[in-house]
Amino acid sequence: MILALGIGVVMSGVTIGLVYQPPIATVVQPDPRAFPVTLIQRGATLAMIGDCVVCHTAERGVPYAGGRPLATPFGTLYATNITPDQATGIGLWSFAAFRRAMREGISRDGSHLYPALPYEHFTHVTDGDLAALYAFLMTRRAIWAPAPRNELIFPLGFRPLLAGWNLLFLHQGPFVPNPGESAEWNRGAYLVEGLGHCGGCHTPRNLAGGEERDRAFAGGVAEGWNAPALDPSNRSPHRWTVQSLYTYLRTGIDAEHSAAAGPMGPVSHDLSSVPEADVRAIAVYVASLMRHGRDDDGGTGPVDLEKKAADAHPSGAALFAGACGGCHGQGSPMVSQGRPSLSLVSAIQEDDPRNMLQAILQGVLPTAGTPGPYMPAFSNSLNDGQIAEIAAYLRTRYSTRGPWPKLEAAAMAARREGAEQ
Ligand code: HEC
Ligand code: HEC
Ligand code: HEC
Repeated sequence: MILALGIGVVMSGVTIGLVYQPPIATVVQPDPRAFPVTLIQRGATLAMIGDCVVCHTAERGVPYAGGRPLATPFGTLYATNITPDQATGIGLWSFAAFRRAMREGISRDGSHLYPALPYEHFTHVTDGDLAALYAFLMTRRAIWAPAPRNELIFPLGFRPLLAGWNLLFLHQGPFVPNPGESAEWNRGAYLVEGLGHCGGCHTPRNLAGGEERDRAFAGGVAEGWNAPALDPSNRSPHRWTVQSLYTYLRTGIDAEHSAAAGPMGPVSHDLSSVPEADVRAIAVYVASLMRHGRDDDGGTGPVDLEKKAADAHPSGAALFAGACGGCHGQGSPMVSQGRPSLSLVSAIQEDDPRNMLQAILQGVLPTAGTPGPYMPAFSNSLNDGQIAEIAAYLRTRYSTRGPWPKLEAAAMAARREGAEQ
């Protein structure tokens, strides 16, 4: 990041015009009644696809009033208030100012915004969809809520440096449909690449925090969790299909795979209130990404090497029986009710044990609004050594891939990363 920003400073010395962005004048706050109801409703749906509420709401805070801390390798950023409050929100913003923030990452006053706001994806959103989002936000209740000050390592608190980042990583321009694909596929591509910003988590990032475009959807990291690959290298024992993706994205759980845990939980929760056709379009596009260039259509299939695992990791087996077996053991009510077996979970197949460890540490919350089973957090009841034993046991039992090295240290690191959130 430092290096790239250094380059950025040099380049922006040449192109000072990029660094300086003029303020856009305030406007008289638009009358909420001036926005057509259908436009507001469309904006509400789009806001769900864009997860605006996830970042722009503090824990137990008012939706969209901001204040949620976002930990980055460069320090902590706070999402701002995007309710129409005149002093602390966007109440005096014109549509032009809103559109510039979403497309170029420039605030109304001309200052550069951090790419924690995923504007490198939002830049592809159409004017019509941005107008609907604007109508939706401008008709929320205005909340007075100043965002806390960002805590970034020197010199990144200096916003003009972001002009260099934009030069390197922001690729503006509308989404270009692929005429060789169906309308549904193109709708899905538009939503995934744009507002849905799925690559924001599922694409690996370089040291400067930019997405590696030539490795799109090869798997990334989010809040101490792995966001698994959504390309042909996806590790699920059962191949994902359009139907299983649809079910997973819309309900947060699919019987052939698993639940959406960690940072994927809020994404699927938001998608549960999005029109079915849009979620299906997303599923069609993601399924095509996963199958691209593959001949076989089957995954490796689940395995259960119970005896081998118990012989290799007797204390892991005992801990699993005691702490987990009541829910995940054969014949437990949860499994007999058709919840996915742990043998299907991609967390157990990944190269990196992170998601396995985070699931044990943090548990899995039910999708809001569904009474379904949940998994308690074990961060207080199991120590790093015990968590490592269980993870080693499950890896041997349900995967034919090699053992995870240095699990206890990884558990310690996962605990720390999880606590930063
Ligand atoms: C991944 C987290 C994240 C998501 C998702 C997100 N934002 Fe943000 N947004 C931020 C952060 C962080 C900032 C503040 C950046 C800064 O201080 O430079 C921000 C800033 C903004 C701003 C500028 C506000 C100002 O006062 O300058 C607008 C407008 C905005 N977001 C709108 C949206 C909308 C609309 C959506 C949904 C379509 C959305 N954001 C989704 C994290 C997010
Ligand atoms: C905030 C980060 C984030 C965003 C944004 C995000 N994901 Fe995820 N996603 C994750 C994480 C983390 C997991 C792993 C969850 C787990 O282990 O239960 C995941 C899991 C998944 C899986 C399951 C993969 C597997 O093999 O188990 C699919 C499919 C998926 N995401 C699709 C999407 C799509 C489509 C979008 C955009 C609409 C999206 N994700 C946006 C973080 C994210
Ligand atoms: C009270 C019941 C309960 C207990 C006890 C429990 N779990 Fe879970 N676990 C769940 C539920 C519910 C899910 C979400 C999947 C589902 O709904 O079927 C889940 C999901 C998981 C996942 C998948 C997470 C992902 O990335 O998608 C893993 C891994 C896991 N559990 C491991 C464990 C381990 C290891 C233990 C013991 C330390 C344990 N669980 C104890 C209920 C439980």
